Amino acid sequence: MRLSTVKQIAIPSNLVFFRSLLLNPKSIGAVAPSSLRLSRFIAARVGSGNGPVLEIGAGTGAITRELLGSAIEPGNLFVIERDARLAWFLRQRFPGVVVRCDDALHCGQILSAHGVRSVQTVVSSLPLRNMEPARRDAIVEAMLNTMGRNAQLIQYTYTPFCPIPLKRFDLAAECLGRIWTNLPPATVWRFVKRR
Ligand SMILES: C[S@@+](CC[C@H](N)C(=O)[O-])C[C@H]1O[C@@H](n2cnc3c(N)ncnc32)[C@H](O)[C@@H]1O
Repeated sequence: MRLSTVKQIAIPSNLVFFRSLLLNPKSIGAVAPSSLRLSRFIAARVGSGNGPVLEIGAGTGAITRELLGSAIEPGNLFVIERDARLAWFLRQRFPGVVVRCDDALHCGQILSAHGVRSVQTVVSSLPLRNMEPARRDAIVEAMLNTMGRNAQLIQYTYTPFCPIPLKRFDLAAECLGRIWTNLPPATVWRFVKRR
């Protein structure tokens, strides 16, 4: 792990997470930050390609930390988090990473503003199942539009059911595994465009 990229900061992640959870439970959509096991499982599946990686709904940065601890360069990682306190926390924790406090819906414009046309992987912690279908679909569409050729979307859920309507987006889905030690247990999905 690059020390210049990940800072030890005085406020514990759990405290920051629970404060945001109390203020906005539906938008946070989880009872705790992602476990180390889940975070490492996801980071290991992002791979070490040279392309940019987009992380959406990064919360306190449990997965961000593991992405940086794998082969992802900080300059290749773009993070979007809508909660202002969490976005502030992420900026303190990961000084070398672009963290934007914004809605996932704007991910394409955010990447363009940084000169990025497409990414190799989107990692999403978004609580898709808490969203109205029309809003969920608009966000999924926006995420898919950022993906280059052979790119993947990695998304986890707390139910075993696929969180994205595959036919509507012409996607192929693979269930990568279930992490029982996460709170609550999480199922990790990989989505790729069929063409
Ligand atoms: C399940 S939590 C993230 C957990 C995270 N992996 C961690 O370890 O802290 C989901 C996150 O998505 C963020 N979020 C929800 N809706 C969003 C949206 N439309 N755009 C960007 N972020 C959003 C929430 O603020 C929350 O931090």
